[in-house]
Amino acid sequence: TEAALIDGLGRRIDYLRLSVTDRCDFRCVYCMAEDMTFLPRQQVLSLEEIERLARLFVARGVKKIRLTGGEPLVRQGIVGLCERISALPGLRELVMTSNGSQLVKLARPLADAGVKRLNISLDSLDPARFRAITRTGELAQVLAGIEAARSAGFERIKLNVVVMKGRNADEVPALVDYALNHGLDISFIEEMPLGEVGRSRAESLCSSDEVRARIAERYSLLDSTESTGGPARYVRVADYPASRIGFISPHSHNFCASCNRVRLTAEGRLLLCLGHENAIDLRALVRRHPTTDAPIHQALDRAMQLKPARHQFEVDQVQILRFMNASGG
Ligand code: GTP
Ligand code: 5AD
Ligand code: SF4
Repeated sequence: TEAALIDGLGRRIDYLRLSVTDRCDFRCVYCMAEDMTFLPRQQVLSLEEIERLARLFVARGVKKIRLTGGEPLVRQGIVGLCERISALPGLRELVMTSNGSQLVKLARPLADAGVKRLNISLDSLDPARFRAITRTGELAQVLAGIEAARSAGFERIKLNVVVMKGRNADEVPALVDYALNHGLDISFIEEMPLGEVGRSRAESLCSSDEVRARIAERYSLLDSTESTGGPARYVRVADYPASRIGFISPHSHNFCASCNRVRLTAEGRLLLCLGHENAIDLRALVRRHPTTDAPIHQALDRAMQLKPARHQFEVDQVQILRFMNASGG
């Protein structure tokens, strides 16, 4: 058996975020510029290359793989890929983050293919605002997708909300009500400055403390030590045992000391941290060594030494030019 992945600071890497495409049918304002250009197909890893890399990571002790994008469900062949990855011996859970637009059709096939949990972005319950934030998204379609997911047999479903003053911060209580009444988890996320999206994120930033205070006006919140293996800190709500409320606070509550993850971009770059450019080109290696794994394992060992201690986002300044859709969220 191969050695576990331990970085230079002793952090064990057992969570791989795997972006299967940079494409998306939405154009969320915090994620993309209005006029995005996407990668040419030959620069994107093939399904076989993705599967091979997933297998190599699992052999190195990765227990959780999250498929991301762009929007993972716009990639052709995604359900078959899920079937093959979820069957890898040693993997504890295959999970996915989606914008929900394709779930009416794909929720059941994904659950059947072994996807255990689904995180679905939902930034507003108002159709016009939802459209303004996603630029192309239709709220009714996503809500129908969430309903489809609820009856498809996932272990858990979590809503993701990027909170922005002037856009959706005043909807925090309504979004919490929606999650609690549907037995869903919900996470509130502080926006990160990735990619030049044409506006400063500083004025719209809403801290997790503010969000939590808003929720505590209506519900009695109980701190919890539970974790889903990601950056969220959770609270429980009295009388709603089915739901958890999470806070992802890259600005106000740094979580890098317990970082357990790396990202594989759609073009096969292994990013060691969302907030840094340190990376290894695994696509070149898998294409140069189609049948021998040793050079790739050696590259993973080198990569571990490149993982930075922490991200250092300045809210009023974009230091990372790559966009979120190219980073795997
Ligand atoms: P769970 O398995 O439910 O814990 O999922 P998750 O929170 O790890 O994944 P999800 O795709 O739902 O991501 C939620 C938010 O957390 C997104 O905004 C991600 O960009 C952010 N996030 C996840 N991992 C990291 C990380 O290592 N660093 C930073 N800065 N943000 C992260
Ligand atoms: N800051 C924080 N979260 C973001 N997401 C996308 N862009 C950003 C950003 N700039 C979130 C999406 C999705 C998850 C993968 O990342 O809302 O839920
Ligand atoms: Fe698409 Fe997700 Fe980016 Fe929105 S946040 S544009 S849904 S990849």
